[in-house]
This record gives sequence, C-alpha cells and structure tokens, in this order.
Amino acid sequence: MEKVITRKQFLHNTAKYAAGISAGVAGFGLISRTNASPLVEPVPLPWGYEELDVEEARKLGHQGYWSGLGCSYGAFHAIIKLLKDKVGEPYTLLPTEFLEWGRGGGWGWGTLCGALTGALTAMNICLAKATASKLGNELTGWYTQTEFPSDISNQYAEDEEFYDNRYTDTILQTVCGSPLCHISVSTWLSLPYKKLNTVERSERCARLTGDVAAYAVQIMNDELNEAFTPIYTPPETVGYCMTCHGSEAMDDTIGKMECTQCHGDHTAVSVGKENGFAPTYKLNQNFPNPFNPKTTIQFSIPQTAAVYLAVYDIHGRLVKNLVDLKDYDVGSHTVVWDGTNNYGQKVSSGTYFYRLQAGEFTESKRMLLVK
Ligand code: HEC
Ligand code: HEC
Repeated sequence: MEKVITRKQFLHNTAKYAAGISAGVAGFGLISRTNASPLVEPVPLPWGYEELDVEEARKLGHQGYWSGLGCSYGAFHAIIKLLKDKVGEPYTLLPTEFLEWGRGGGWGWGTLCGALTGALTAMNICLAKATASKLGNELTGWYTQTEFPSDISNQYAEDEEFYDNRYTDTILQTVCGSPLCHISVSTWLSLPYKKLNTVERSERCARLTGDVAAYAVQIMNDELNEAFTPIYTPPETVGYCMTCHGSEAMDDTIGKMECTQCHGDHTAVSVGKENGFAPTYKLNQNFPNPFNPKTTIQFSIPQTAAVYLAVYDIHGRLVKNLVDLKDYDVGSHTVVWDGTNNYGQKVSSGTYFYRLQAGEFTESKRMLLVK
C-alpha cells in the first residue's frame, strides 16, 4: 500500500486550509486574494486510504444518485463521505458536488459511465498513480463484464434496506460489454417495455452507482490488505486487433474497449473466402510497411470479380504476380508478398509498387522493402 498521510500532516494542512477559507469568497465563487502569496497550500496527492465498509458505500452511492446530483456524484460522494467520517481532513474539505458534471456520461453525452467517473476520481485522490491506474483498470474492466444491478442491490431494494426506498421491485440485469454510459443504458433499454425517463430506469442507474462504489471500495480494501487479485480478463479480440493496430506495429489507435462492438473483424476473411459485404473497391496500404521479409496486402471488392494483383519495381517492370486473374467473392481479402520474384528469388531492398485490377477498378500503392 502507498504511504498514507499521517494524522499530524492532515492536521497541519487543515490549519492552512481553514485560514484560506476564512479569507472569504468572491462573487464568482473564487477565493479572493489580497496579496500575491497563495492563501492555501495544496495538500499533495495521494491523500491515503483506510479500510471502508463496502455495503455502506453501496447504500451511500444509491442514495447519492437520488440526491438529485446523479451517478457520478453518487459514486464519488459515497467513497469520499466514508473517508471524511473515517479519516477526516483533508477529505472533509472536499466539496463532492463538483463531480455532478459526470452524470449521463458527461452532462448527458453518454460517454464514460458517470459512476465510473466518480469512483475513478475518488481512487485518484486516495491512491498513488501506479495503484490508481491498476485498480482503475480493474474497476473499468469489471464494469464491462458485470450484471447490473447486482443481486445484492436488488435484494436491498426488495427488503427496503436502501436509504431511499422509492422503488422496490427487482430490476432485470444486463451486461453491456462497454464502459460507455450510452451502451450501458441503451443495452438495458433494449429490454421489452423499458424507457429512459422512468423511475425504474433511474433506479437501475442508482443501484448501479451503489454497485460501482462498493466494488471500488472492495478492491481498495483488498489492495490495502495486500489481497488484491484482478478478476478482469480483456476480450481476446482486443489483444488480437492491437497486435497490428497497437503501438508495437501500426500505432494508429488507442483503447481497451471491445473492438468488435463497433468494428467488424476485417481480418476474418482470408484469400478467396466471402466476407458478405464491402461498400466500394479499396486497396489498402500494405502492412507492415516498411517490411522485411514479408508484408500483407489487403483489398476489398463490392462484387464478385476477376482480380489481378501484381508487384512492380520502380521502373515499372513486373516483379511478381500475386493474384493472376482469379475470381474473388464480395468482401475483403488479404494476400501476403514474401519479397520474392516470379522465379522465387529474393529481390533487393527498395521501393516497389503493387497494383490491383478488379472489374473496372485499378489502383496502385507504394511499399518499401528494407534489409
Ligand atoms: C494483421 C494485421 C491486422 C489485424 C490483426 C487487424 N487489422 Fe485492422 N487493419 C489492418 C490494416 C493493414 C489496415 C489498413 C490500414 C490502412 O488502410 O491504412 C487496417 C484497417 C483497419 C480499420 C480501418 C478500416 C478502413 O477501411 O479504413 C479499422 C477500423 C480496423 N482495421 C479495425 C480492426 C479491428 C477491430 C481488428 C480486430 C478485430 C483489426 N483491425 C485487426 C491490419 C490489421
Ligand atoms: C465505441 C465504438 C468503438 C470501439 C469500441 C472501437 N472503435 Fe475504433 N473507431 C470507432 C470510430 C467511430 C472510429 C472513427 C471512424 C472510423 O474510422 O471508423 C474508429 C476508428 C478506428 C481506427 C482508425 C480507422 C481509420 O480509418 O484510420 C482504427 C484502426 C480503430 N478504430 C481500431 C479499433 C480497435 C483496434 C478497437 C479495439 C481496441 C476499436 N477500434 C474500438 C469506434 C470504436
């Protein structure tokens, strides 16, 4: 566990805070300054963590949602409120309302689930960077694979054990595969007869808020007790897609979200097999490029066609026939060039062109063989 700020340090910092706050608040809510010296010294992060009650966090998260400030505030407040009670300063000086913006995935934009925003922010205040990032990764991944609301939350509601018992029916559970508010809420709304602006849907998010706060507290407790073991395993497709698109290779995207939730798997089809659909003819840049000893060329055709694909040198001389007027089905296809010519000899390093002819379509691209 990271170094926890001692009570003495807390008290020391509190005295400075108190001095700053009593200096008054200006019209726009900014602390007014009469001279150049800062009124307060920031208390450096992390502020430390002490073991908290998981079930209390669940109930406070649920209640916080219904306070009118929403999911992001709810999850943040649940954790920080418990730390205010248990640890005191500097947590007591933190106005938890500033997390309200995260509701609905950021003022209704449906991006990161607000409950995650709240809990991840709390973690970032309590824990040193490496721990916050490790546990934050776990919390986010766990979220994508968890049924919400949890059985525990449904049970609390039924037994009227929440602090706010306005809706006590069991709520159907969904797993959404994504950390996005839009996908989480829409997946649940795709159940029969569900609508967004209903008490039932709000209660679903209130229970989820409690569940997220509770799991955040649970893994922080585990970490504190040196008992943390991640349960999240990323979907296989992410690792697979990132072997080409990640920083080791093409380096052209960022993310850990399940790729196939939004993109098709364009590699599912190899030479000659049908992919079902391709909107237009397309010849993609070879991968990797520059390359040695071999490279992959990918192309798509929107209708069955006789395909001719060949490699030329910079003088336009034919080097290798890769596909020699063969019929291909609709979809995307890949062909590998191993850097040899039509006589099976290794060609020298330098610039080459590959040219696709399919139906009426012709296109060439350049590639670089390096030694
Ligand atoms: C074998 C390497 C490889 C793998 C694995 C791979 N890709 Fe690609 N991907 C490419 C290449 C090469 C391109 C073409 C790049 C270009 O046109 O500049 C590409 C293009 C794309 C594009 C852009 C499509 C377009 O038409 O511009 C998307 C999106 C994409 N890949 C997503 C994925 C996803 C999702 C996965 C995993 C299911 C995946 N890729 C796996 C090599 C790969
Ligand atoms: C929530 C939906 C979503 C998820 C999940 C997602 N993407 Fe994307 N991705 C997009 C959108 C939207 C774009 C921009 C439009 C486009 O080019 O398709 C994009 C763009 C890309 C591009 C650039 C395409 C180009 O034309 O240059 C690549 C590569 C890519 N994504 C790969 C991935 C990989 C790999 C994953 C999984 C780690 C992934 N995406 C997960 C929605 C998503």
